[in-house]
Amino acid sequence: MFRRLTEARGRALTVLIDGVAAQAREGDSVAAAMLAAGRLTARTTPTSGAPRAPYCLMGVCFECLVTIDGIGNRQGCMTPVREGMRVETQRGKRGLGA
Ligand code: FES
Repeated sequence: MFRRLTEARGRALTVLIDGVAAQAREGDSVAAAMLAAGRLTARTTPTSGAPRAPYCLMGVCFECLVTIDGIGNRQGCMTPVREGMRVETQRGKRGLGA
């Protein structure tokens, strides 16, 4: 569904998305890296468990909430990827503690 522009630049990075290694590019947001990897669901809703995907990609809609390195409610579209980053689909509401 989504593909990179052929002129995309930036160093290749590896991130873990739900425990699976995925290739990203330096300068990608977490949401962009997830979409490029074919991961369309960023979170599920706390009430019905319906899957939600990044929508605005500019920090407005909060549909891209994910858990990053153990911390929930992180906006994937506003967070740049880093080598080795652990990204997890957020299931329902953020857990307490981390
Ligand atoms: S996709 Fe809308 S806030 Fe991230």
